[in-house]
Amino acid sequence: MESKKRVKISELLKREAGTDVLVKGWVRTKRGNKNISFVALNDGSTVNNIQIVFDMSKFTEEQLKGVNTGACLAVEGSLVSSVGSGQSVEIQAHLLEIYGSADPETYPLQKKGHSMEFLREIGHLRPRTNTFGCIFRIRHAMAFAIHKFFNDKGFFYLHTPIITASDAEGAGAMFQVTTLDLNNIPKNPEGGVNFSDDFFGKAANLTVSGQLEGELGALALGEIYTFGPTFRAENSNTPRHLSEFWMIEPEIAFYDIKDNMDLAEEFIKYLVKYSLDNCTDDLKFLNDMFDKELIERLQSVIDTEFVRLSYTDGVEILMKSGQKFEYPVSWGTDLQSEHERYLVEKHFKKPVILTDYPKEIKAFYMKQNDDNKTVRAMDVLFPKIGEIIGGSQREESLEKLEGRIKELEMGTESLWWYIETRKFGTAPHSGFGLGFERLLLFVTGMSNIRDVIPFPRSPKNAEF
Ligand code: 4AD
Ligand code: MG
Repeated sequence: MESKKRVKISELLKREAGTDVLVKGWVRTKRGNKNISFVALNDGSTVNNIQIVFDMSKFTEEQLKGVNTGACLAVEGSLVSSVGSGQSVEIQAHLLEIYGSADPETYPLQKKGHSMEFLREIGHLRPRTNTFGCIFRIRHAMAFAIHKFFNDKGFFYLHTPIITASDAEGAGAMFQVTTLDLNNIPKNPEGGVNFSDDFFGKAANLTVSGQLEGELGALALGEIYTFGPTFRAENSNTPRHLSEFWMIEPEIAFYDIKDNMDLAEEFIKYLVKYSLDNCTDDLKFLNDMFDKELIERLQSVIDTEFVRLSYTDGVEILMKSGQKFEYPVSWGTDLQSEHERYLVEKHFKKPVILTDYPKEIKAFYMKQNDDNKTVRAMDVLFPKIGEIIGGSQREESLEKLEGRIKELEMGTESLWWYIETRKFGTAPHSGFGLGFERLLLFVTGMSNIRDVIPFPRSPKNAEF
Protein backbone atom coordinates (compact mmCIF):
# COMPACT_ATOMS: atom_id res chain seq x y z
CA MET A 1 0.00 0.00 0.00
CA GLU A 2 2.85 2.34 0.80
CA SER A 3 4.06 2.34 -2.81
CA LYS A 4 1.16 4.63 -3.73
CA LYS A 5 1.05 8.34 -2.99
CA ARG A 6 -1.78 9.48 -0.79
CA VAL A 7 -4.33 11.77 -2.46
CA LYS A 8 -6.14 14.36 -0.37
CA ILE A 9 -9.92 14.19 -0.37
CA SER A 10 -10.19 17.79 -1.59
CA GLU A 11 -8.29 16.64 -4.71
CA LEU A 12 -10.13 13.33 -5.09
CA LEU A 13 -13.52 15.00 -5.18
CA LYS A 14 -12.44 16.99 -8.23
CA ARG A 15 -11.17 13.93 -10.10
CA GLU A 16 -12.86 11.85 -12.77
CA ALA A 17 -13.58 8.21 -11.95
CA GLY A 18 -11.34 5.49 -13.31
CA THR A 19 -8.08 5.40 -11.34
CA ASP A 20 -6.75 3.54 -8.32
CA VAL A 21 -6.11 5.79 -5.33
CA LEU A 22 -4.84 5.76 -1.76
CA VAL A 23 -6.67 7.87 0.85
CA LYS A 24 -6.01 8.35 4.54
CA GLY A 25 -8.30 9.92 7.09
CA TRP A 26 -10.69 9.59 10.01
CA VAL A 27 -14.04 7.80 9.94
CA ARG A 28 -17.02 10.09 10.37
CA THR A 29 -19.75 7.46 10.02
CA LYS A 30 -20.19 3.83 9.11
CA ARG A 31 -23.42 2.17 8.01
CA GLY A 32 -24.43 -0.89 6.01
CA ASN A 33 -25.38 -4.53 6.33
CA LYS A 34 -23.91 -8.02 5.97
CA ASN A 35 -23.18 -7.52 2.27
CA ILE A 36 -21.92 -3.98 2.08
CA SER A 37 -20.45 -1.26 4.31
CA PHE A 38 -20.35 2.47 3.63
CA VAL A 39 -17.79 4.60 5.41
CA ALA A 40 -17.64 8.40 5.26
CA LEU A 41 -13.98 9.37 5.53
CA ASN A 42 -12.63 12.86 6.19
CA ASP A 43 -9.00 13.97 6.12
CA GLY A 44 -9.39 17.63 7.04
CA SER A 45 -8.54 18.96 3.59
CA THR A 46 -12.20 19.84 3.03
CA VAL A 47 -15.50 19.70 4.89
CA ASN A 48 -16.66 17.10 2.38
CA ASN A 49 -16.17 13.37 3.00
CA ILE A 50 -15.30 10.65 0.52
CA GLN A 51 -17.55 7.62 0.62
CA ILE A 52 -15.72 4.30 0.82
CA VAL A 53 -17.63 1.20 -0.16
CA PHE A 54 -16.55 -2.15 1.35
CA ASP A 55 -17.91 -5.15 -0.55
CA MET A 56 -18.21 -7.69 2.28
CA SER A 57 -17.46 -10.58 -0.05
CA LYS A 58 -13.88 -9.17 -0.16
CA PHE A 59 -13.50 -8.21 3.52
CA THR A 60 -14.25 -10.11 6.72
CA GLU A 61 -16.41 -8.80 9.58
CA GLU A 62 -13.26 -9.08 11.69
CA GLN A 63 -11.30 -6.74 9.38
CA LEU A 64 -14.04 -4.10 9.53
CA LYS A 65 -14.53 -4.36 13.28
CA GLY A 66 -12.10 -1.56 14.08
CA VAL A 67 -13.64 0.74 11.49
CA ASN A 68 -15.69 2.94 13.80
CA THR A 69 -16.41 6.63 14.10
CA GLY A 70 -13.11 8.32 14.96
CA ALA A 71 -10.81 5.54 13.74
CA CYS A 72 -7.95 6.45 11.41
CA LEU A 73 -7.62 4.46 8.19
CA ALA A 74 -5.65 4.08 5.00
CA VAL A 75 -7.68 2.69 2.11
CA GLU A 76 -6.62 1.77 -1.37
CA GLY A 77 -9.27 1.30 -4.02
CA SER A 78 -10.77 2.35 -7.32
CA LEU A 79 -12.30 5.74 -7.75
CA VAL A 80 -15.69 5.09 -9.35
CA SER A 81 -18.73 7.16 -10.21
CA SER A 82 -21.14 7.18 -7.35
CA VAL A 83 -24.67 5.97 -7.81
CA GLY A 84 -25.87 7.45 -4.52
CA SER A 85 -26.79 11.10 -4.30
CA GLY A 86 -24.61 13.68 -2.62
CA GLN A 87 -21.29 12.78 -4.19
CA SER A 88 -19.99 12.35 -7.72
CA VAL A 89 -17.29 9.77 -6.92
CA GLU A 90 -16.66 7.14 -4.28
CA ILE A 91 -14.01 4.53 -3.59
CA GLN A 92 -14.49 0.79 -4.03
CA ALA A 93 -12.07 -0.50 -1.39
CA HIS A 94 -9.41 -3.13 -2.22
CA LEU A 95 -7.06 -2.79 0.74
CA LEU A 96 -7.60 -1.53 4.28
CA GLU A 97 -5.14 -0.63 6.98
CA ILE A 98 -6.31 0.66 10.37
CA TYR A 99 -3.78 3.05 11.84
CA GLY A 100 -5.74 3.68 15.01
CA SER A 101 -9.11 2.45 16.19
CA ALA A 102 -11.45 4.49 18.40
CA ASP A 103 -13.53 2.68 20.97
CA PRO A 104 -17.21 3.50 20.27
CA GLU A 105 -17.96 3.30 24.01
CA THR A 106 -15.52 6.06 24.93
CA TYR A 107 -14.81 8.17 21.81
CA PRO A 108 -16.50 11.47 22.72
CA LEU A 109 -17.48 12.57 19.22
CA GLN A 110 -20.41 10.46 18.21
CA LYS A 111 -22.75 11.11 15.35
CA LYS A 112 -25.16 13.38 17.19
CA GLY A 113 -24.46 17.10 17.38
CA HIS A 114 -22.62 18.33 20.46
CA SER A 115 -22.96 21.70 22.19
CA MET A 116 -20.20 24.27 21.70
CA GLU A 117 -19.67 24.24 25.47
CA PHE A 118 -19.05 20.51 25.48
CA LEU A 119 -16.71 20.77 22.50
CA ARG A 120 -14.63 23.38 24.37
CA GLU A 121 -14.00 20.74 27.02
CA ILE A 122 -12.51 18.44 24.39
CA GLY A 123 -10.25 20.94 22.67
CA HIS A 124 -7.90 18.10 21.70
CA LEU A 125 -10.58 16.46 19.55
CA ARG A 126 -12.88 19.27 18.45
CA PRO A 127 -10.76 20.05 15.34
CA ARG A 128 -12.13 16.74 14.02
CA THR A 129 -15.69 18.03 13.88
CA ASN A 130 -17.08 19.53 10.69
CA THR A 131 -17.69 22.86 12.39
CA PHE A 132 -14.17 23.31 13.73
CA GLY A 133 -12.62 21.99 10.53
CA CYS A 134 -14.44 24.79 8.71
CA ILE A 135 -13.45 27.42 11.26
CA PHE A 136 -9.76 26.52 11.29
CA ARG A 137 -9.53 26.33 7.50
CA ILE A 138 -11.13 29.78 7.33
CA ARG A 139 -8.71 31.00 10.00
CA HIS A 140 -5.83 29.82 7.86
CA ALA A 141 -7.26 31.45 4.74
CA MET A 142 -7.70 34.77 6.55
CA ALA A 143 -4.11 34.68 7.87
CA PHE A 144 -2.85 34.04 4.36
CA ALA A 145 -5.04 36.81 2.92
CA ILE A 146 -3.71 39.29 5.49
CA HIS A 147 -0.14 38.68 4.36
CA LYS A 148 -1.20 38.81 0.73
CA PHE A 149 -3.06 42.11 1.16
CA PHE A 150 -0.09 43.86 2.72
CA ASN A 151 2.56 42.24 0.57
CA ASP A 152 0.69 43.28 -2.59
CA LYS A 153 0.68 46.85 -1.27
CA GLY A 154 4.40 46.87 -0.49
CA PHE A 155 4.07 46.80 3.31
CA PHE A 156 6.80 44.99 5.24
CA TYR A 157 6.02 42.35 7.86
CA LEU A 158 7.81 43.49 11.02
CA HIS A 159 8.34 41.08 13.90
CA THR A 160 7.84 42.92 17.15
CA PRO A 161 8.83 41.39 20.49
CA ILE A 162 6.52 39.25 22.58
CA ILE A 163 8.43 40.00 25.77
CA THR A 164 8.65 43.73 26.49
CA ALA A 165 9.45 46.06 29.36
CA SER A 166 6.88 48.71 28.41
CA ASP A 167 3.11 48.96 28.55
CA ALA A 168 2.05 49.88 25.02
CA GLU A 169 -1.54 50.75 25.85
CA GLY A 170 -0.80 52.30 29.24
CA ALA A 171 -3.64 50.18 30.57
CA GLY A 172 -1.71 48.00 32.97
CA ALA A 173 -3.40 44.67 32.24
CA MET A 174 -0.21 42.71 31.64
CA PHE A 175 1.11 39.24 32.35
CA GLN A 176 4.42 39.43 34.13
CA VAL A 177 7.39 37.45 32.83
CA THR A 178 9.88 36.48 35.50
CA THR A 179 12.39 33.84 36.49
CA LEU A 180 12.48 35.04 40.12
CA ASP A 181 11.78 32.41 42.74
CA LEU A 182 8.24 33.28 43.79
CA ASN A 183 8.82 31.64 47.15
CA ASN A 184 11.81 33.80 47.83
CA ILE A 185 11.44 37.15 46.13
CA PRO A 186 14.50 39.44 46.36
CA LYS A 187 13.60 42.81 47.88
CA ASN A 188 15.16 46.25 47.43
CA PRO A 189 15.84 48.54 50.42
CA GLU A 190 12.38 50.14 50.00
CA GLY A 191 10.75 46.74 50.39
CA GLY A 192 9.67 46.38 46.77
CA VAL A 193 10.70 43.58 44.40
CA ASN A 194 14.31 43.87 43.31
CA PHE A 195 13.89 43.40 39.58
CA SER A 196 17.60 43.96 38.93
CA ASP A 197 17.95 40.33 40.06
CA ASP A 198 15.37 39.22 37.51
CA PHE A 199 16.22 37.66 34.13
CA PHE A 200 16.11 40.89 32.12
CA GLY A 201 17.39 43.08 34.94
CA LYS A 202 14.04 44.86 35.05
CA ALA A 203 10.34 44.09 35.21
CA ALA A 204 9.15 42.45 31.99
CA ASN A 205 5.79 41.36 30.64
CA LEU A 206 4.05 39.78 27.67
CA THR A 207 3.20 42.40 25.08
CA VAL A 208 -0.31 43.87 24.91
CA SER A 209 0.39 45.31 21.43
CA GLY A 210 3.23 45.54 18.94
CA GLN A 211 2.33 49.12 18.10
CA LEU A 212 5.13 51.07 19.75
CA GLU A 213 7.82 49.00 18.04
CA GLY A 214 5.67 49.06 14.90
CA GLU A 215 5.92 52.85 14.92
CA LEU A 216 9.72 52.58 15.01
CA GLY A 217 9.47 50.40 11.91
CA ALA A 218 7.11 52.77 10.09
CA LEU A 219 9.42 55.70 10.78
CA ALA A 220 12.17 53.85 8.92
CA LEU A 221 10.58 51.46 6.42
CA GLY A 222 7.53 53.61 5.67
CA GLU A 223 4.77 51.01 5.70
CA ILE A 224 4.84 47.99 7.98
CA TYR A 225 2.45 45.59 9.63
CA THR A 226 2.74 43.19 12.51
CA PHE A 227 0.78 39.98 12.95
CA GLY A 228 1.32 38.12 16.17
CA PRO A 229 -0.06 37.06 19.53
CA THR A 230 -0.84 39.68 22.17
CA PHE A 231 -1.77 39.20 25.79
CA ARG A 232 -4.18 40.94 28.13
CA ALA A 233 -4.54 40.03 31.79
CA GLU A 234 -7.90 41.77 32.15
CA ASN A 235 -10.47 39.67 33.95
CA SER A 236 -13.01 39.92 31.12
CA ASN A 237 -15.16 36.84 30.87
CA THR A 238 -17.09 37.83 27.76
CA PRO A 239 -17.79 36.17 24.39
CA ARG A 240 -15.54 38.81 22.77
CA HIS A 241 -12.41 38.78 24.97
CA LEU A 242 -9.46 36.42 25.15
CA SER A 243 -6.38 36.61 27.36
CA GLU A 244 -4.25 35.60 24.37
CA PHE A 245 -5.37 36.84 20.98
CA TRP A 246 -3.78 37.63 17.65
CA MET A 247 -3.59 41.14 16.34
CA ILE A 248 -2.70 42.68 12.99
CA GLU A 249 -1.22 46.16 13.33
CA PRO A 250 -0.35 48.16 10.23
CA GLU A 251 1.60 51.37 10.89
CA ILE A 252 2.16 53.87 8.11
CA ALA A 253 4.33 56.96 7.80
CA PHE A 254 2.70 60.05 6.25
CA TYR A 255 -0.85 58.74 6.78
CA ASP A 256 -3.40 60.95 8.48
CA ILE A 257 -6.58 59.66 10.08
CA LYS A 258 -8.51 59.79 6.82
CA ASP A 259 -5.91 57.63 5.04
CA ASN A 260 -6.01 55.32 8.06
CA MET A 261 -9.80 54.92 7.84
CA ASP A 262 -9.60 54.28 4.10
CA LEU A 263 -7.01 51.55 4.66
CA ALA A 264 -9.02 49.93 7.46
CA GLU A 265 -12.17 49.81 5.34
CA GLU A 266 -10.36 48.48 2.28
CA PHE A 267 -8.56 45.87 4.42
CA ILE A 268 -11.69 44.41 6.03
CA LYS A 269 -13.58 44.36 2.75
CA TYR A 270 -10.66 42.60 1.07
CA LEU A 271 -10.60 39.92 3.76
CA VAL A 272 -14.33 39.34 3.70
CA LYS A 273 -14.30 39.10 -0.08
CA TYR A 274 -11.35 36.71 0.08
CA SER A 275 -13.33 34.42 2.37
CA LEU A 276 -16.34 34.44 0.02
CA ASP A 277 -14.12 33.67 -2.97
CA ASN A 278 -11.92 31.04 -1.33
CA CYS A 279 -13.80 29.40 1.55
CA THR A 280 -17.00 28.60 -0.31
CA ASP A 281 -17.68 25.09 1.04
CA ASP A 282 -16.77 25.98 4.62
CA LEU A 283 -18.89 29.14 4.65
CA LYS A 284 -21.80 27.28 3.11
CA PHE A 285 -21.60 24.67 5.85
CA LEU A 286 -21.57 27.30 8.61
CA ASN A 287 -24.35 29.21 6.87
CA ASP A 288 -26.55 26.11 6.68
CA MET A 289 -25.82 24.81 10.18
CA PHE A 290 -25.55 27.93 12.35
CA ASP A 291 -26.49 31.20 10.75
CA LYS A 292 -28.72 31.37 7.70
CA GLU A 293 -27.82 35.02 7.11
CA LEU A 294 -24.05 34.61 7.29
CA ILE A 295 -23.16 34.71 3.59
CA GLU A 296 -25.67 37.49 2.95
CA ARG A 297 -24.17 39.53 5.79
CA LEU A 298 -20.64 39.05 4.45
CA GLN A 299 -21.72 40.13 0.99
CA SER A 300 -23.50 43.20 2.35
CA VAL A 301 -20.36 44.43 4.14
CA ILE A 302 -18.43 44.39 0.87
CA ASP A 303 -21.16 46.36 -0.88
CA THR A 304 -21.66 48.98 1.86
CA GLU A 305 -19.79 52.19 2.50
CA PHE A 306 -18.95 52.40 6.21
CA VAL A 307 -20.49 55.32 8.12
CA ARG A 308 -17.93 57.78 9.50
CA LEU A 309 -18.85 59.99 12.40
CA SER A 310 -17.38 61.59 15.46
CA TYR A 311 -17.70 60.22 18.97
CA THR A 312 -19.52 63.44 19.88
CA ASP A 313 -22.16 62.88 17.20
CA GLY A 314 -22.39 59.20 18.12
CA VAL A 315 -23.06 60.00 21.77
CA GLU A 316 -25.73 62.48 20.74
CA ILE A 317 -27.51 59.81 18.72
CA LEU A 318 -27.33 57.41 21.67
CA MET A 319 -28.64 59.98 24.15
CA LYS A 320 -31.54 60.92 21.87
CA SER A 321 -32.35 57.29 21.07
CA GLY A 322 -34.71 56.77 23.99
CA GLN A 323 -33.10 53.34 24.32
CA LYS A 324 -32.60 52.05 27.85
CA PHE A 325 -28.97 50.95 28.18
CA GLU A 326 -27.49 48.97 31.03
CA TYR A 327 -24.71 51.57 31.21
CA PRO A 328 -26.02 55.12 30.77
CA VAL A 329 -24.13 57.15 28.21
CA SER A 330 -23.02 60.78 28.22
CA TRP A 331 -20.15 62.74 26.65
CA GLY A 332 -16.92 61.47 28.18
CA THR A 333 -17.98 57.92 29.01
CA ASP A 334 -16.30 55.00 27.29
CA LEU A 335 -18.72 53.27 24.95
CA GLN A 336 -19.85 49.78 25.91
CA SER A 337 -20.53 47.07 23.41
CA GLU A 338 -24.32 47.68 23.81
CA HIS A 339 -23.81 51.28 22.65
CA GLU A 340 -21.58 50.33 19.75
CA ARG A 341 -24.04 47.70 18.63
CA TYR A 342 -26.98 50.09 18.89
CA LEU A 343 -25.27 52.46 16.46
CA VAL A 344 -24.32 49.69 14.05
CA GLU A 345 -27.29 47.34 14.22
CA LYS A 346 -30.22 49.59 15.04
CA HIS A 347 -29.40 53.12 13.98
CA PHE A 348 -27.23 52.92 10.86
CA LYS A 349 -27.59 49.21 10.03
CA LYS A 350 -24.04 49.16 8.67
CA PRO A 351 -20.45 49.28 9.95
CA VAL A 352 -19.49 52.56 11.60
CA ILE A 353 -16.11 54.24 12.07
CA LEU A 354 -16.22 56.44 15.15
CA THR A 355 -13.50 59.12 15.49
CA ASP A 356 -12.22 61.84 17.78
CA TYR A 357 -12.83 60.37 21.20
CA PRO A 358 -12.27 62.20 24.50
CA LYS A 359 -8.57 62.00 25.33
CA GLU A 360 -9.28 60.67 28.83
CA ILE A 361 -10.60 57.35 27.56
CA LYS A 362 -7.88 56.76 24.95
CA ALA A 363 -4.17 55.89 25.02
CA PHE A 364 -1.36 58.43 25.51
CA TYR A 365 0.09 58.16 22.00
CA MET A 366 -2.93 59.45 20.07
CA LYS A 367 -2.70 62.77 18.21
CA GLN A 368 -4.30 65.58 20.19
CA ASN A 369 -6.89 67.73 18.47
CA ASP A 370 -6.84 71.53 18.73
CA ASP A 371 -9.96 71.49 20.96
CA ASN A 372 -7.70 70.15 23.73
CA LYS A 373 -10.44 67.64 24.60
CA THR A 374 -10.36 64.97 21.93
CA VAL A 375 -7.79 62.83 20.13
CA ARG A 376 -7.58 61.48 16.57
CA ALA A 377 -8.75 58.01 17.53
CA MET A 378 -10.78 55.76 15.29
CA ASP A 379 -12.71 52.62 16.22
CA VAL A 380 -14.35 50.47 13.57
CA LEU A 381 -17.61 49.03 14.89
CA PHE A 382 -19.22 45.95 13.37
CA PRO A 383 -22.58 44.22 13.56
CA LYS A 384 -22.70 41.43 16.20
CA ILE A 385 -19.14 42.27 17.32
CA GLY A 386 -18.86 45.89 18.39
CA GLU A 387 -15.25 47.08 18.17
CA ILE A 388 -13.30 45.12 15.57
CA ILE A 389 -10.52 47.68 14.96
CA GLY A 390 -8.97 50.32 17.21
CA GLY A 391 -6.47 52.84 15.89
CA SER A 392 -5.45 56.46 15.56
CA GLN A 393 -3.25 59.07 14.05
CA ARG A 394 -0.22 59.25 16.36
CA GLU A 395 1.04 62.29 18.22
CA GLU A 396 4.17 63.27 16.32
CA SER A 397 5.00 66.42 18.31
CA LEU A 398 7.64 65.81 20.96
CA GLU A 399 6.28 68.57 23.16
CA LYS A 400 2.68 67.38 23.05
CA LEU A 401 3.61 63.74 23.54
CA GLU A 402 5.77 64.54 26.56
CA GLY A 403 3.02 66.78 27.90
CA ARG A 404 0.48 63.97 27.74
CA ILE A 405 2.84 61.46 29.32
CA LYS A 406 3.42 63.90 32.19
CA GLU A 407 -0.32 64.56 32.57
CA LEU A 408 -0.92 60.83 32.92
CA GLU A 409 1.97 60.48 35.37
CA MET A 410 3.44 57.68 33.29
CA GLY A 411 7.08 56.80 33.84
CA THR A 412 9.26 57.73 30.86
CA GLU A 413 12.19 55.39 31.70
CA SER A 414 10.73 52.47 29.79
CA LEU A 415 9.63 54.68 26.86
CA TRP A 416 12.76 56.78 26.18
CA TRP A 417 13.32 55.13 22.81
CA TYR A 418 9.74 55.79 21.69
CA ILE A 419 9.99 59.44 22.68
CA GLU A 420 13.30 59.85 20.82
CA THR A 421 11.63 59.15 17.47
CA ARG A 422 9.79 62.47 17.96
CA LYS A 423 13.13 64.15 18.53
CA PHE A 424 14.85 62.81 15.43
CA GLY A 425 13.04 63.14 12.12
CA THR A 426 9.52 62.85 13.43
CA ALA A 427 6.72 62.50 10.86
CA PRO A 428 2.96 62.34 10.78
CA HIS A 429 1.92 58.71 10.92
CA SER A 430 -1.05 56.49 11.73
CA GLY A 431 -1.99 52.89 12.32
CA PHE A 432 -4.55 50.53 13.74
CA GLY A 433 -5.01 47.10 15.27
CA LEU A 434 -7.44 44.49 13.96
CA GLY A 435 -8.33 41.77 16.45
CA PHE A 436 -7.90 38.59 14.40
CA GLU A 437 -10.43 36.60 16.41
CA ARG A 438 -12.98 39.43 16.25
CA LEU A 439 -12.62 39.34 12.47
CA LEU A 440 -13.11 35.57 12.57
CA LEU A 441 -16.23 35.94 14.70
CA PHE A 442 -17.66 38.08 11.94
CA VAL A 443 -16.54 35.88 9.05
CA THR A 444 -17.60 32.54 10.59
CA GLY A 445 -20.76 33.80 12.30
CA MET A 446 -19.71 32.14 15.57
CA SER A 447 -20.98 33.84 18.70
CA ASN A 448 -18.18 33.04 21.15
CA ILE A 449 -14.57 34.10 20.56
CA ARG A 450 -13.35 30.89 22.26
CA ASP A 451 -14.63 28.99 19.24
CA VAL A 452 -12.53 30.74 16.58
CA ILE A 453 -9.07 30.07 18.07
CA PRO A 454 -7.80 26.49 18.32
CA PHE A 455 -6.80 26.62 21.99
CA PRO A 456 -8.38 29.59 23.79
CA ARG A 457 -6.85 31.25 26.82
CA SER A 458 -9.23 33.04 29.18
CA PRO A 459 -9.42 33.64 32.95
CA LYS A 460 -9.03 30.30 34.80
CA ASN A 461 -8.60 28.44 31.53
CA ALA A 462 -5.31 27.32 29.98
CA GLU A 463 -6.12 23.68 29.16
CA PHE A 464 -4.58 22.05 26.08
O1 4AD B 1 -8.17 48.75 20.78
P1 4AD B 1 -6.91 48.01 21.13
O2 4AD B 1 -6.59 47.81 22.55
O3 4AD B 1 -5.76 48.82 20.38
C1 4AD B 1 -4.42 48.56 20.42
O4 4AD B 1 -3.90 47.65 21.01
C2 4AD B 1 -3.63 49.49 19.55
N1 4AD B 1 -2.22 49.37 19.95
C3 4AD B 1 -3.84 49.13 18.09
C4 4AD B 1 -3.06 50.05 17.17
O5 4AD B 1 -3.45 51.20 17.01
N2 4AD B 1 -2.00 49.56 16.57
O6 4AD B 1 -6.94 46.60 20.41
C5 4AD B 1 -7.08 46.50 19.01
C6 4AD B 1 -8.10 45.45 18.65
C7 4AD B 1 -9.51 45.72 19.16
O7 4AD B 1 -10.20 46.59 18.31
C8 4AD B 1 -10.11 44.33 19.20
O8 4AD B 1 -10.50 43.93 17.89
C9 4AD B 1 -8.92 43.47 19.57
O9 4AD B 1 -7.75 44.20 19.25
N3 4AD B 1 -8.90 43.15 21.01
C10 4AD B 1 -9.18 41.95 21.53
N4 4AD B 1 -9.55 40.80 20.94
C11 4AD B 1 -9.77 39.74 21.74
N5 4AD B 1 -9.62 39.75 23.09
C12 4AD B 1 -9.25 40.89 23.73
N6 4AD B 1 -9.09 40.88 25.06
C13 4AD B 1 -9.01 42.05 22.93
N7 4AD B 1 -8.62 43.31 23.22
C14 4AD B 1 -8.56 43.96 22.04
MG1 MG C 1 -9.78 49.67 21.57
